[in-house]
Amino acid sequence: MLLKPSVFVTRQIDPVALDKLAKIANVEVWNSDSPPPREILMEKLRTVNGIITLLTDSIDEEIISSASHDLRVISQMAVGYDNINIQMATRRKIPVGNTPGVLTETTADFTWALLMAIARRVPEGDREVHQGIWRPWGPNVLTGQDVFGSSLGIVGFGRIGQAVARRAIGFKMKVRYFDVQRYPELETELNVQYASLSTLLSQSDFITLHINLNPSSHHLIGREELGIMKPTAYLINTARGGIVDSEALYDALKFRQIAGAAIDVFETEPIPAHHPILELDNLIITPHIASASKQTRARMAMIAVNNVIAGINGEQLPHCVNPEVYQS
Ligand code: GLV
Repeated sequence: MLLKPSVFVTRQIDPVALDKLAKIANVEVWNSDSPPPREILMEKLRTVNGIITLLTDSIDEEIISSASHDLRVISQMAVGYDNINIQMATRRKIPVGNTPGVLTETTADFTWALLMAIARRVPEGDREVHQGIWRPWGPNVLTGQDVFGSSLGIVGFGRIGQAVARRAIGFKMKVRYFDVQRYPELETELNVQYASLSTLLSQSDFITLHINLNPSSHHLIGREELGIMKPTAYLINTARGGIVDSEALYDALKFRQIAGAAIDVFETEPIPAHHPILELDNLIITPHIASASKQTRARMAMIAVNNVIAGINGEQLPHCVNPEVYQS
């Protein structure tokens, strides 16, 4: 009897997707809420035919170069894949999959939740009431900024950036976007205007980031960029922490160069427990949960499983980030 291929999954994922995988492969699931240690990842990649990874698993050059020649696929259960050394995977002809599309609306919803929460000081109000403080209704109590009718700057106009722009229509916002490419048809359809990064930063009341992290976007938002934002403006980041220079952000928030920030991602995740930025009252921070809806996580798991199944069967992945591997 032929041996079933083997797949290592670095966390418990949706059981329906896992059942589908278990029908054709021997599946081992890392049964912890924390990512597997590096030695385990190395050991597994020397023996398995496929792996499902999460963005918390660092699949770097050394790990990929020491992987077995029988490793046929790395399937990332996320749309972003900056934790994987794609160049090395491509050199080793290992296809890498991701899960685009299915988390677009969920992530855009969460971006909106952060934007509304920081503008209208929702966590502050909630904290006070939970602490037994219900200040009498007063003209100046917990006043925030209007979202309706304000201006929004979207950095990165891919699927998620566009989904955020669609939400802004209902809020009658003036929307500018910056991207490496222009989208003339969408400019009309979504009533958005292309702008340079500096115009967008200096003119928007809310700035939201929706680009990949790569060497050219690392610290795209640094001291200078924060310095040209309006002192009343807010920064929202549901993309990747490394896009923003966190020391510069700390200073901009502490010295009120900008009004506030709402971020779901940070340069070092998890953020160290006593990081000084956590003491600031004009920051909302959540633990990288923008795509965390039950439905979306199940859809992401199914796509990751479909990618890994294609890979172990030697077929082209339905969602492959390095299709060059298929060129001979
Ligand atoms: C989440 O951050 C993702 O990249 O899917």
